[in-house]
Amino acid sequence: MTRINEPLLQLKDVTAGYGAGLVLKGVNLDVMPGQIICLIGPNGAGKSTVLKTISGLLGIKGGEVIFKGHEISTLSSKQRLGLGIVHVPQDRSLFPAMTVWENILMGAFILKDQKLINERIEQAAELFPIIIARKNAAAGSLSGGEQKQVEVARSLMLDPALILLDEPSIGLDPKSRKLVFESISLLSKAGRTILLVEQNARSGLAVSDRGAVLEAGRVALVGTGAGLLEDPEVSRLYLGASSK
Ligand SMILES: Nc1ncnc2c1ncn2[C@@H]1O[C@H](COP(=O)(O)OP(=O)(O)OP(=O)(O)O)[C@@H](O)[C@H]1O
Ligand SMILES: [Mg+2]
Repeated sequence: MTRINEPLLQLKDVTAGYGAGLVLKGVNLDVMPGQIICLIGPNGAGKSTVLKTISGLLGIKGGEVIFKGHEISTLSSKQRLGLGIVHVPQDRSLFPAMTVWENILMGAFILKDQKLINERIEQAAELFPIIIARKNAAAGSLSGGEQKQVEVARSLMLDPALILLDEPSIGLDPKSRKLVFESISLLSKAGRTILLVEQNARSGLAVSDRGAVLEAGRVALVGTGAGLLEDPEVSRLYLGASSK
């Protein structure tokens, strides 16, 4: 049971990396229930790595990952999925030759109850009508923005407690990008808790309750989304290129 004023997820002094060196050098971050927090920072700062340590794709070398008050860093990614932590990765992750509908069902693979699956699909379709409108299309035939929407809809099949969204707007044209950020706002209004990583910092912070800046493997700054948007240093370093 998580109380409303307690973090749903806490990273405490998390260190992690891929070889001998560390990419994350002591990351501290709180994600509050029902909020969107946007993690920004330069390429290679370790943003995707942070998400991987939460979903369990990467083990940590030190520190703690605490979800609903319990340390979860020794759990497998499947066990964390079972706890309701879903990860929508940076790269496209749909099965391109399968239909949209089949891809959506893949997101429900650990569910046995067909009635529940149908209910979840109906709920997801309220936010993402495309999963019905294009249900028989091969996923690979959809545009990048449409595919992202299907990926996010798929992540809703397990009624997730926490959604990790890695650069959902990357590589999209302005119209698709707008659609993706509108979808994120809708998810937020539906009460979802989201940790969003965004290169498009201006749009990411604008839809977020809170923001955090990751620099060289540490969280250098946290604040409200609006506060970071107004911060001159953040603006100078991270908002210039995304104002286009
Ligand atoms: N699978 C991997 N094996 C080895 N090194 C990796 C691997 N994935 C990432 N790295 C390295 O870890 C560092 C952080 O990468 P990460 O992908 O977390 O950065 P990022 O902040 O998400 O960057 P971007 O904005 O480009 O997505 C980089 O130096 C990267 O080269
Ligand atoms: Mg990344």
